[in-house]
Amino acid sequence: MKEELLQLAEAMPKAELHLHIEGSLEPELVFKLAKRNQVQLDYASVENLKAAYSFNNLQEFLDVYYAGMSVLLTEDDFYDLTWAYLQRVHEEKVVHVEIFFDPQAHLERGVPLTVQLAGIHGALEAGKATLGISYRLILSFLRHLPESSALETLELAKPHLDQIDGFGLDSSEKGFPPENFQQVFAECKKLGKPITVHAGEEGPPEYVWQALDLLKVDRIDHGNRALEDDALVERLAKDKMTLTVCPLSNLKLCVVEDLKEHPLLTMLDKGLHAMVNSDDPAYFGGYLLDNYRALIEQLPVTRQQLHQLARNAFTSAWLSDEDKARHLAAVDEVFAG
Ligand code: ADE
Ligand code: ZN
Repeated sequence: MKEELLQLAEAMPKAELHLHIEGSLEPELVFKLAKRNQVQLDYASVENLKAAYSFNNLQEFLDVYYAGMSVLLTEDDFYDLTWAYLQRVHEEKVVHVEIFFDPQAHLERGVPLTVQLAGIHGALEAGKATLGISYRLILSFLRHLPESSALETLELAKPHLDQIDGFGLDSSEKGFPPENFQQVFAECKKLGKPITVHAGEEGPPEYVWQALDLLKVDRIDHGNRALEDDALVERLAKDKMTLTVCPLSNLKLCVVEDLKEHPLLTMLDKGLHAMVNSDDPAYFGGYLLDNYRALIEQLPVTRQQLHQLARNAFTSAWLSDEDKARHLAAVDEVFAG
């Protein structure tokens, strides 16, 4: 049974909608770019750096994540980072990606938005042309910084809206509620762009309510703690709101103690529109297929639930109805066989 599901997970076309491109920066590439850019690292070797990948909570991870990305300085760096991710997931039959980038983290180091965009967008276009992977690029604001910084970043982004498909909110959650960002997301909406916000990863259900009611989000990233509030679960189900769930991330950041306790199947049972993602695969021990594999191995996933998850990934994507139908037909064909 599990063997059949593992084979289906491998064979099915996949979409990933919650991926921080800076979180796909592998230790080997950190060292390569540090050398290329003459950046001094606090770690003596790849092994040393890998040994630091043990986290008790989100903040401990973020400290390492922001330190790691300090090697990203040039257009080539952003290109190489994005290209490495696309090549890796292409091998796993990922055919559509919607990826975040954190421009404020790079602006702080003096890297212009135009440089970041040229590298990331250039690689995404190359991936589309040569690997057949379609994409959306999501500019994510850092919630530990004030809203004024997000508003300034949005001004910088305005000349590049042809390359930015949506807006997000990430970084330290507790103490930085969605309500702090009402003005900037209202502007994003006015620009006609969809929005997706990290909420309920570590933060309380109240933050998910705020994301829905105050920011008018189109998706919720994570959303685990929504399960603590029955009225919220009902609302999310009624709205068919997508939750971009990240199982290995939840394990590594101690959102769950054991994958056997992961709430993904409970979410599906309650009628929630959940789907599977890798979040920051270089740090959390696995790319998208590894997340599906871990779920199949640790939870009593049924064939029907795996099929549902595969479909949810495409129905939640910011794709045209026509493209969604094409991908869904390909998913259904794998499950019909
Ligand atoms: N930035 C990168 N990964 C993140 C996560 N899991 N939660 C919040 N911010 C992040
Ligand atoms: Zn995330």
